[in-house]
Amino acid sequence: MLITFEGIDGSGKSTQISLLKEELNKKGHRVEVFREPGGTDVSEMIRGMLLNPEIDIDPITELLLFSSARSQLVAEKVLPLLKENVVVILDRFYDSTTAYQGYGRRSIPIDQIDQINATATHGLKPDITFYLRLTPETAAERTKNFEKDRMEQSGDSFFKRVYDGFESLSKSEPRFKTIDAEQDIEAIHAQILKATLSKLK
Ligand code: ADP
Ligand code: TYD
Repeated sequence: MLITFEGIDGSGKSTQISLLKEELNKKGHRVEVFREPGGTDVSEMIRGMLLNPEIDIDPITELLLFSSARSQLVAEKVLPLLKENVVVILDRFYDSTTAYQGYGRRSIPIDQIDQINATATHGLKPDITFYLRLTPETAAERTKNFEKDRMEQSGDSFFKRVYDGFESLSKSEPRFKTIDAEQDIEAIHAQILKATLSKLK
C-alpha cells in the first residue's frame, strides 16, 4: 500500500508521518518512509541542488529535476518494497509537482505536467493521499523561525498559487483525503490513522 502526504510547507506532514509510522509498526506492519525529493543517493544529490538558495534554476529545469529524483526513488525503492507488501509512506509525491511547478511556477500547462508525472512515477499512483490543508498564512506563522531553502524563498503569491493548486487537486482527485491541519496534532493523527486502517483491511 502506498500512502502519500501533501500540503504546503509547514502543514505538519513530517509530524503526522512519524506518528502514523509508529502506530502502524505497533500493529505489526512493516513501514518505510521516504521524503521527496530524496530517498536514494541520486535523489538526495538532486535535492541538494533544488533546495540550495545559492543557485538559480530555470522553471523547466526545476520541473525535470524534481521528476528525475522521483523516477529514481520509485524505481530503486518504492516499487520493490510494494512488491514485498511493505507499507510505503511518501512525504510528498507527484501532486507536489502539479501544485508547485504547475500552479506555483506556471512552468508548463497542467496537462503537460500530468504527462511528465505519469512518466516519472512509472505509472504508480497512491492508494490514499492525505492532504493537510493549512492556509499559507498559518503555515508561514508556524515556520517563521526556520531557515528558508530555495523553494521557500519563492514569496507569498507563489505559495498562494500552490495552495490553490492543492485545493483544486483535492476537488478533482477521489484519492485525496483532506484533513483540516489547523486542528491539534493528536486530533489530526486520529483521523489519519482511522482512514489508513480502514484501507489496510
Ligand atoms: P511539514 O513536514 O509539512 O513541513 P512539520 O511537521 O515539520 O511540517 O511541522 C511544521 C511546524 O509546525 C513544526 O514546528 C511542528 O512542530 C509544527 N506543527 C505540526 N503540526 C502542528 C499542529 N497540528 N499544530 C501546531 N503546530 C504544528
Ligand atoms: P522539504 O523541506 O522536504 O518540504 P517541507 O517544507 O514540506 O518539509 O522541501 C521540499 C521542497 O520542495 C518544498 O518546498 C516543496 C518542494 N517541492 C516541489 O516544488 N516540487 C515537488 O515535486 C516536490 C516533491 C517538492
